[in-house]
Amino acid sequence: MCAVRKSLRFAFTHIPKDHLLMYFGESGYVVVRRKHNTGNHQSARRKMAVDKSNDRVRQMFASIAGKYDRMNHLLSMNVDKYWRWRTVRRVAPRGNAPILDVCTGTGDLAFAYWKASNGTAPIVAADFCREMLDVGREKKKQICVDGELTFVEADTQQLPFEDNRFQIVSVAFGLRNVADTDQGLREMARVCAPGGNVAILEFSMPSWQPFKAIYGWYFRRVLPRIGQWLARNDESAYSYLPESVGEFPYGEALAERIRQAGLQDVKRYPMTFGIATLYVGTKPA
Ligand SMILES: C[S@@+](CC[C@H](N)C(=O)[O-])C[C@H]1O[C@@H](n2cnc3c(N)ncnc32)[C@H](O)[C@@H]1O
Repeated sequence: MCAVRKSLRFAFTHIPKDHLLMYFGESGYVVVRRKHNTGNHQSARRKMAVDKSNDRVRQMFASIAGKYDRMNHLLSMNVDKYWRWRTVRRVAPRGNAPILDVCTGTGDLAFAYWKASNGTAPIVAADFCREMLDVGREKKKQICVDGELTFVEADTQQLPFEDNRFQIVSVAFGLRNVADTDQGLREMARVCAPGGNVAILEFSMPSWQPFKAIYGWYFRRVLPRIGQWLARNDESAYSYLPESVGEFPYGEALAERIRQAGLQDVKRYPMTFGIATLYVGTKPA
């Protein structure tokens, strides 16, 4: 990334400006402008793909696992807890059929489901990053969970569970990180029981100005700097956050991808001015 930035800076400063201008726009975009003989500028926006390969994502979360919860609550000013609370109320457990939380990280949504079901429904908390799961297992000891809450190392793109098993399959701020979003969604739909719900909590972009502008500035400029400074993180995990959010679909675009995965009656619930949205799809009975 650094090398790319350097070469872009080089291009920006060394190539005659009336021939080619390249510079970093917002959130990982490269803006290319070419001046034609007519003197008009034509511009094209091309997205720099964010590297979401399994290894990169796993290593990045492994490197921040010990600080993840603290950072999460600090950078969101604890609003993330409220979003998960709303999720388990909106998509509430019914009876004692099992619940699966994928990309569970340190397990916060899984713990919220355990609480919401009063420990009666077995909860499976799955993630492919062992270090994040280890933090979750420690939390489980401290919280003294009674009832079943099991942490399982698993890739969301290839879930090791049989079809139609879970009454709810949830994910919070994780789908965005899955290398193949559609494959992840298909797997979530596959293991969900007919008539059950798939609940996806993910960042989105507010549409209401001037909040949109202020939030955009905080999210893209301030948050990565505070994150990196506090986490002392070499892997740029907190620049990855706005980059990955910037390129991930939200609103109707994501709802359509959820339908394509085989779910129906997809509903959207924006929260906190649209900073986050809960998407809920139902598996056909
Ligand atoms: C931003 S954290 C979210 C953790 C948690 N759900 C929360 O609400 O705080 C994203 C998690 O997704 C996991 N993840 C990303 N891609 C994955 C995949 N393909 N399979 C399983 N876990 C994945 C990462 O290891 C990381 O723990």
